[in-house]
Amino acid sequence: MNAILLQSATDQLDDVGSMASEVAKGLSASPKQLPSKFFYDAEGSRLFEEICRQPEYYLTRTEIGILVRFGGDIARVVGPHSRIVEFGSGSGVKTRLLIRSLAEPAVYAPVEISPDALKESLVALRREFPGLPITPVVGDFTQPLRLPVSSSIARRTVVFFPGSTIGNFDKAGALRVLRNIRGTVGSTGGALVGIDLRKDVAQTEAAYNDAAGVTARFTLNMLAHLNTAVGTDFDLTRFAHRARYNVAAGRIETYLISLDDQTVLLQGATYKFKRDEAMLVEYSHKYTIGEFEALAARAALSLRNVWTDDLKRFAIVYLSGKRPGVDA
Ligand code: AVJ
Repeated sequence: MNAILLQSATDQLDDVGSMASEVAKGLSASPKQLPSKFFYDAEGSRLFEEICRQPEYYLTRTEIGILVRFGGDIARVVGPHSRIVEFGSGSGVKTRLLIRSLAEPAVYAPVEISPDALKESLVALRREFPGLPITPVVGDFTQPLRLPVSSSIARRTVVFFPGSTIGNFDKAGALRVLRNIRGTVGSTGGALVGIDLRKDVAQTEAAYNDAAGVTARFTLNMLAHLNTAVGTDFDLTRFAHRARYNVAAGRIETYLISLDDQTVLLQGATYKFKRDEAMLVEYSHKYTIGEFEALAARAALSLRNVWTDDLKRFAIVYLSGKRPGVDA
């Protein structure tokens, strides 16, 4: 635990500098774009939880329903004594549901870039599963991972990557994450991945434009977060949230639209926005099972199981590291 605390203090120092340069880079790009990870300060995480309670945002409650309904099946596929490596740590609700279903998981190893989020997510888990060995890893799951040596009691490693978080990556990024998963689990393990399925435009767009306006507040909060974290001077009253489904690309594209000609300052530099200029802040990709199977295959992962809700809105899939005819 000491190593984690230490890393937290030094990371935060580098973070301000690297975050400011990432913001500067995004504001200099044409078209402008900022990474969606900047949504998640404390207020952003709180607003995301509130999004999950909106009637239009079906993703989280549908995925939880699948975990509850098919927990027994999922546990049989994952197998007993598996090491569960979770990519991201989230609020822990899905983790607790999965672990409750599993037969004697050997180890739980969450991989999370934010040491604070990591520590927070482990409190409830330790309380509910006092006998479960936990090996938290502060790290970036988009980069090659070095996990602590697996205990000999673990029969295989299974990555848990819920929430359609893979949808936030473009195709190249998603492929990089899938290859990382394959590197982590080898030919004997696998992965449980949550993916949002392709559906009609109206339902898809509604999920990112809830009537109560929570998603709009969530999107705008990125600017408040950056003002605090790197010292930009975004005026939140002069930007608007816009989320549109790009059917050809199979993704929701979320933008902040500048309502005026305006300038934003960061570290002595000025960035000009034109009226109606759109700055990209998030992709949320939607997949058909076939599309996702083809993508996973490029990372040497074979789609073995699909669990979905009655309306086929969301799926949890099991990808195996064992390729038929290649791996023994
Ligand atoms: C949890 C990151 C997958 O893309 O659907 C919700 C985030 N953005 N509403 C998603 C989000 C707008 C969410 N992810």
